[in-house]
Amino acid sequence: MSMASIINPPRDPNTLSNYNNWISTHITANLEIFFDQKKLAGNVIHQLKSITHGESQDILLDTSSLDIEGVKVDGKVSKWELLPRLEPYGTALKIKLDQGVELHKVVEVDISIKTTDKCTALQWLTPAQTSSKKHPYMFSQCQAIHARTIFPCQDTPDVKSTFDFNITSPLPVIASGLPDRHLSESTVSGKNLYRFHQNVPIPSYLFALASGDISEASIGPRSVVATSPDKLEECKWELEADTEKFINTIENIVYPYVWGEYNVLILPPSFPYGGMENPIFTFGTPSIVSKDRENVNVIAHELAHSWSGNLVTNASWEHFWLNEGWTTYLERRILGAVHGEPYRHFAAIIGWKSLVDAVEHFGHDHEFTKLVINLKGKDPDDAFSSIPYEKGFNFLFHLENLVGKDKFDKFIPHYFTAFRGKSLDSYEFKANILDFFASDKEAAAALNGIDWEAWFYSPGLPAKPYFDTSLADIVYELSAKWESLPESSFIPQASDIHGLTANQIVVFLEKILAFERPLTPELSRLMGEVYGFSKSENVEVTNLYFQVGLKSGDTSIIEGTTSLLGRIGRMKFVRPLYRKLNEVNRPLALETFEMHRDFYHPICRAMVEKDLFGKKDN
Ligand code: BES
Ligand code: ZN
Repeated sequence: MSMASIINPPRDPNTLSNYNNWISTHITANLEIFFDQKKLAGNVIHQLKSITHGESQDILLDTSSLDIEGVKVDGKVSKWELLPRLEPYGTALKIKLDQGVELHKVVEVDISIKTTDKCTALQWLTPAQTSSKKHPYMFSQCQAIHARTIFPCQDTPDVKSTFDFNITSPLPVIASGLPDRHLSESTVSGKNLYRFHQNVPIPSYLFALASGDISEASIGPRSVVATSPDKLEECKWELEADTEKFINTIENIVYPYVWGEYNVLILPPSFPYGGMENPIFTFGTPSIVSKDRENVNVIAHELAHSWSGNLVTNASWEHFWLNEGWTTYLERRILGAVHGEPYRHFAAIIGWKSLVDAVEHFGHDHEFTKLVINLKGKDPDDAFSSIPYEKGFNFLFHLENLVGKDKFDKFIPHYFTAFRGKSLDSYEFKANILDFFASDKEAAAALNGIDWEAWFYSPGLPAKPYFDTSLADIVYELSAKWESLPESSFIPQASDIHGLTANQIVVFLEKILAFERPLTPELSRLMGEVYGFSKSENVEVTNLYFQVGLKSGDTSIIEGTTSLLGRIGRMKFVRPLYRKLNEVNRPLALETFEMHRDFYHPICRAMVEKDLFGKKDN
């Protein structure tokens, strides 16, 4: 942690902890998984170091919807209280110490807890909701501020701790640490103790657990994929060609991977994100497994977080672009190194479109369209969008173009070395890059010409950079033919899309969606039939095709849409589909949501509820 965060007030406005007085350096989580009660219970032990000049007094930790059963400080029962709830941050746990604690002294705080049914970080699935249908399943998703609903913690990306996980479960367990593979100890009643260690300090949002009918297969020399036994083969096929290639590639761009193993857990379909960069074990949606290896960019992305985010971390969610913009940049550097520069530019073109859509969704003046945002009093989930990813990517791409790629290549390892193991904000980023190029006259002059204020704080779109469109042009031409219908003589044929990758189809469908005059229902239907879109295994494709159909009033896609909404809970697909369905047929949108609400993850359920019923500001 840097000095800045020792000064009052803490630079993260989304925590109620007093992490400017104490920092948690190590956490031991002893938790048992009770599938029947849908609860975790046990105790969590923090090693808390005093960082107050003078003496530290009370300890404040984040909690939300947690049952606290007791607190011990250095082995002795301690006084504690829960402060009044403060939305959307929860309830601070105040632990009273008998006496002040001197600078740099450590106390051990042991808190007994149980999660509740209001826990937003966990989803509990019945056997029927899993792929093999045999066993229940549970998994966590802590980013951004949900860890506090599992255990009391300093729930801020500005504090990092090492972890020991001791997890008892009747079913295999995965956590965000290195497994003690030979050390799973049987306990009474058929439960096992699973141990993991995370010796690289990590923030609370990277705490992760999953347990269920999970088996593993190798996908590389330092990688396994873990998933339901009946899906293992297809997951292995999807990932084994690229995973180690990607690791080698990014190691050459930044520096060697520090975490030991890089594994992927493919979750049940209600997983609300595409992927989550939990250390050692990336968590991924099953929609990555599209049987065409066309969604492995999600792996490149989550892998890249092993440097951007997990080692070098945004100090608060207001500087989220430092995590996601950098990761999107590195993801595309990996893809560019493997498939060539035009591919990197093609990915950036897809990104630019999602940036434009996000800015239009929020409105060009909206706070959340800035690179650095104000989150005081706000829920970071409400600010979540493509903007930190794509405005962040474009900012870094702009910097690369300004100083030149070769020079920028040297800056990358410098930056990731300077902030390795630390958390930083945008101002430290600026100081770091200016400092690195200070002695290079040409680069320094270019960087001094940057309007930093505008990049950080102007809402709306930045200037559009030059992108190589060679991979996009071919689908732009095809979409122009569709736009000329029904007046023109163009006759669509299956061969129109021969040789196109699924991602080129994605760009094609996005162009169609952007037509000022929507396709007629007949043409939408024809497109689906001739190109086979509604039967595609690639949800990126079906999702967009269904949006085209909804926009054109083509009723033949309605059933496919409502059925997809019951099969995949990834918000990237679920939220736009509900929004579009709501526009054309609100009763059907509401009915479909009611039908599937138990299938969705609590975060997804809450976001769709906001989209369908809620305030307009998210
Ligand atoms: N860290 C994010 C997911 C996330 C962000 C979870 C904010 C909770 C709050 C992850 O790395 C991510 O960006 N996933 C993307 C992958 C895509 C950009 C390749 C996703 O889920 O779609
Ligand atoms: Zn990410």
